[in-house]
Amino acid sequence: MNPSLHPYRYLVTGITDSASLALYCAKQIQKEGGEIVCTGLGRTPHHKGLSEKSEAFLDRTYMDFESVIQKEFSSDTPLFKLDVTIEDTIRDVAKSLKERNLKLNGFLHSIAMDKTIRAGAVKPILELTKDEFFNAMEVSAFSLILMTRIFLEEDVLLNNSSIVSLSYLGAEKIVSHPYKNVGVAKAALERITYELAYELGKSHNIKVNSIRFSPYASSKAGGAIAGLKEAFDEAENKSPLGNATPEDLGWEVAYLLRPYGKVTGEVRYVDGGYHIRG
Ligand SMILES: NC(=O)c1ccc[n+]([C@@H]2O[C@H](COP(=O)([O-])OP(=O)(O)OC[C@H]3O[C@@H](n4cnc5c(N)ncnc54)[C@H](O)[C@@H]3O)[C@@H](O)[C@H]2O)c1
Repeated sequence: MNPSLHPYRYLVTGITDSASLALYCAKQIQKEGGEIVCTGLGRTPHHKGLSEKSEAFLDRTYMDFESVIQKEFSSDTPLFKLDVTIEDTIRDVAKSLKERNLKLNGFLHSIAMDKTIRAGAVKPILELTKDEFFNAMEVSAFSLILMTRIFLEEDVLLNNSSIVSLSYLGAEKIVSHPYKNVGVAKAALERITYELAYELGKSHNIKVNSIRFSPYASSKAGGAIAGLKEAFDEAENKSPLGNATPEDLGWEVAYLLRPYGKVTGEVRYVDGGYHIRG
């Protein structure tokens, strides 16, 4: 074991099932001696007026999350419910961490959602509603700001911390499969990365980076994107090193989460070099 993350503690968002990219990252953090606390999307007392269908979805999602964590990690891993569209749920996570004196040396933002991706189809940008546009922005981009702010306000994110988020080449380019609305949100996420890196570097010596990862169709988010499997095959052939695996991603995330070093404000590729291809 390389204990480069001992005795540091990291919050990992975005584990939904055994294929979630965040799960691989959490495993690598542990492997390198880091402690993890995890959040999963789930129903909280702050959710009001939900339909039965939405309640069932949130309950099922959280149960799946708990069972993955039980299988992969020790039973005393701290777990919290989080829905980044409800500010109070972020505040509750921060307050619970504070009560238990679980200060963070950083966190992984591995969250994205685009309601215009449905049954293998993606809405053209021209047809987006305001709600669809802002929902993708809120979940996939603004949440990085909100989580950081609340963790700082509640004094659970330590100076010298490191924050990493996950992005994709589709933030910048029109890729071979439709990425559209969520691509716009990823562009915002990357721009937010620069701005936060500047502000938080100056104020707290906190590092903020983002990683553009290879196409990956095995997760729920990836599997929902039309044409991603074909994009995976194309990138596999064209990338000098072939596609990066979730384990490759975990390694890089753990590296960027180290509390030392001077890498910040970077949008870094972990994609086997696909981005250099025309
Ligand atoms: N799959 C790919 O091809 C790929 C490539 C590059 C980057 N990414 C990014 O990696 C990250 C993780 O995706 P993944 O492929 O592991 O899929 P995933 O479905 O396992 O993870 C997405 C996560 O977002 C969470 N989420 C959605 N709405 C939320 C909300 N309101 N509050 C809290 N959490 C919420 C889901 O519960 C889920 O855990 C995403 O940011 C995604 O855009 C994915």
